[in-house]
Amino acid sequence: MVKIIKANENSLEKAALIIREGGLVAFPTETVYGLGACAFNSTAVARIFEVKQRPRFDPIIVHIGDFKDIYKLCSEVNEKAELLIEKFWPGPLTLVLPKSNVIPDIVTAGLDTVAVRMPSHPIALKLIKKAEVPIAAPSANLFGYLSPTTAEHVAEQLGDKIDLIIDGGKCPIGVESTVLDLTNEPTVLRLGGLPIEEIEKVIGKVKVLTLSEKPRSPGQLPRHYSPRTPLKIIKENEELTIQKNVRAGLLAFKQPKSKYKFLFKEIEVLSESGDLREAACNLFSCLHKLDKAGLDVIYAEPVPEIGLGKAIMDRLRKAEVK
Ligand code: TXA
Ligand code: MG
Repeated sequence: MVKIIKANENSLEKAALIIREGGLVAFPTETVYGLGACAFNSTAVARIFEVKQRPRFDPIIVHIGDFKDIYKLCSEVNEKAELLIEKFWPGPLTLVLPKSNVIPDIVTAGLDTVAVRMPSHPIALKLIKKAEVPIAAPSANLFGYLSPTTAEHVAEQLGDKIDLIIDGGKCPIGVESTVLDLTNEPTVLRLGGLPIEEIEKVIGKVKVLTLSEKPRSPGQLPRHYSPRTPLKIIKENEELTIQKNVRAGLLAFKQPKSKYKFLFKEIEVLSESGDLREAACNLFSCLHKLDKAGLDVIYAEPVPEIGLGKAIMDRLRKAEVK
């Protein structure tokens, strides 16, 4: 039975207790819903992998509710990390730093680094504070499938396998956090909710790992964050022709041109006004809807690759059938 409860003092107390006792709770963050367990409890973290059907080699982000906790979880916090924390935490930025020995190996999949983030969503912060332990949490979806941005998305994928889902409505950012490795030359391992341009204003140029390089982060795997329906990105100036018996859907960036409309059985619009922030926020929920519409193929319009547009295009490219 799916247990979804609205976030309030009582339900968060209950959720915190479940976390402390080794259970699994899905909760909203400003990026996507997370599937949380006590970061110090190896057995609970092992259950996350099991429930998500996630490969063991995939490390998990540890969420903290107080800036100071980073010094307990990491053996070294360099100056660049401190500058970024001051500017962007709490928020959609995950930092990879050398780990201290309080973090069990299963959390980091045996790596000697740990990914840490302080979320800005008030419900997430409250839950971590009430739990009084850092919360290890990947996105609350099945491995490789679309990330959840509502409690219903979580219920559909994991509902009967976890202890509780805290419903805090739709996630305001809608794409996962930006993952930045600061153990060597600053390197973005996953494009996400904090645009790289913002990071570079604080610490200067950062490297971005491209698809061809060895994946250090599964967000880097070529096919990830995918709907089950095949997805194709429409090319610049491409004249689409769709055969009569093919049920096609459109993921439109803005309100689509009328010549387009009759080609598609279903259309989802990311942002009527073409606002990239709104588009990011709607990305996964639009894809969830199209994926449930019984289509043969989803066509996605490209969005401009500036700011959050980079993270959106990254997710679309990873969802595309090659
Ligand atoms: O927005 C988010 O980051 C969401 C919410 C729930 O906080 N979480 C999330 O977690 O997207 P997950 O597990 O789906 O993605 C975490 C990414 C993965 O690509 C993982 O490989 C990478 O972070 N990661 C975690 N620890 C790492 C480490 N020590 N070194 C390199 N990459 C790491
Ligand atoms: Mg994920």
